[in-house]
Amino acid sequence: MNKQLSKISVIGSGYIGLVVGSCLADFGYNVVCADIDSNKIDRLKKGEIPIFENGMEELVQKNISNKLLHFTVNINKTIQDSEIIFIAVNTPTNSRGRADISAVEAVAKVIAENLNSNKIICIKSTVPIGTHKIVESIIRQNKKNDFTFDIVSIPEFLREGSAINDFLNPDRIIIGTESRASYLKIKEIFSKINCKQENIIWTNNLSAETIKYVSNSFLALKVSFINEIANFCDEVGVDALSVASGVGLDRRIGPLFLKPGPGFGGSCFPKDVQALVTMARDHNIELETIKAAMKINEMQQIRVIQKLSALLDNSLNNKTIAVLGLAFKGNTDDVRKSPAIGIIKLLQKNGSIINAYDPKAIQNMKSELPDINYFDDAYKTIANSDAILILTDWDEFKKLDFDKISKLVKQQVILDTRNILDIDYIKNLNFVIDTIGRSCLAKKISFQNYSKIKQKIIN
Ligand code: UGA
Repeated sequence: MNKQLSKISVIGSGYIGLVVGSCLADFGYNVVCADIDSNKIDRLKKGEIPIFENGMEELVQKNISNKLLHFTVNINKTIQDSEIIFIAVNTPTNSRGRADISAVEAVAKVIAENLNSNKIICIKSTVPIGTHKIVESIIRQNKKNDFTFDIVSIPEFLREGSAINDFLNPDRIIIGTESRASYLKIKEIFSKINCKQENIIWTNNLSAETIKYVSNSFLALKVSFINEIANFCDEVGVDALSVASGVGLDRRIGPLFLKPGPGFGGSCFPKDVQALVTMARDHNIELETIKAAMKINEMQQIRVIQKLSALLDNSLNNKTIAVLGLAFKGNTDDVRKSPAIGIIKLLQKNGSIINAYDPKAIQNMKSELPDINYFDDAYKTIANSDAILILTDWDEFKKLDFDKISKLVKQQVILDTRNILDIDYIKNLNFVIDTIGRSCLAKKISFQNYSKIKQKIIN
């Protein structure tokens, strides 16, 4: 196949669509990214990226000037001009805990109406198991000619914050299709991606769709598991990070996703675990381990409040809390389902005054939490606070001058929920510090009054 002639379109210019589109353009393909949001497309045409993602702006601008990457709202024409179409629209959770695939269905209908040649349709969005059949039947019912099409389910595994690197260096590429020809074509398109040949898996659509949900659910399970173990370690005086690294050396377990913290958030894990539980329930299966992972995740926010309360003589009322980090994790401006939202709301409910700072996520958080005090600098946020609460693992927070901070605060109290600070350095400056999973190294705090504290926090 002459790749210069392959015209690729990506429908949906959000996180996944932009990474797929700009990376394929960088490989030399002619890519058009389309979206119904004309505002977004106008900005993208000028090389302005609506999200914060390292390296994205440069990649988009480079490929716009190389005339390989284009943006449009004209979805009809984009489809007519392409032989390969990626669907990368959002599939948010609906009120019944299911993934809402109405955007995917709408794109399928537009594809059908514009099917003017044989095409390969790749579903990149995370979609409920069996969605490829719905897409297929929509196209079949609405197409007006005999052109053929194949549906390829090709889930994406990139993480926000390291999206481009993850896309270019994946552990595996899952290509789900019944058609060998389409499998080979997509494999060729992705041939510049750095992935071991044996990890490029040809499977059917159903398996590909399932692999995506199971991967995210297993990772979420790992996070909840280590959070629960970290809470246990805090009670028995063991360092959870040393436990995690010892356990993670077993290749059957692996070292990744064993960092304790305030719980998992983001646009994927909470949505996908909920969707898998709901899908399983439709088949009379209760996914008890995954349900437990969700419950532990909710409880972890209460655990954070309990710890902070214990550091502040069991009273959060009228205390000024300097929250460092609002994004659901470092290196992103995304606050969707960020643990910071629930934790801050609980703190407010308990009478705390919130001063908050995040290097990139303040603008996004303002619509979620309009009534907290935002600052454009960590030191201003911290000034006169009763406690510093670190909720996101931004590198910037590791480099703060805590000697200077010790003179700015009302009380020298820190809860580092991401274990990013050097505990000895902080303790030497006479701070009282606690963490998630390393209480034995920080201040030893007794949690014997836990149930009482919990009562107060929730009611
Ligand atoms: C996740 C998956 O990791 C990707 O493979 C997948 O493609 C993506 O969802 C998706 O479905 O689109 P992402 O949501 O960007 O990626 O974020 P992660 O890096 O997976 O982190 C998820 C949450 O778990 C964050 O809140 C993070 O702070 C937390 N986490 C992660 C921990 O608390 N501890 C860890 O050790 C790892």
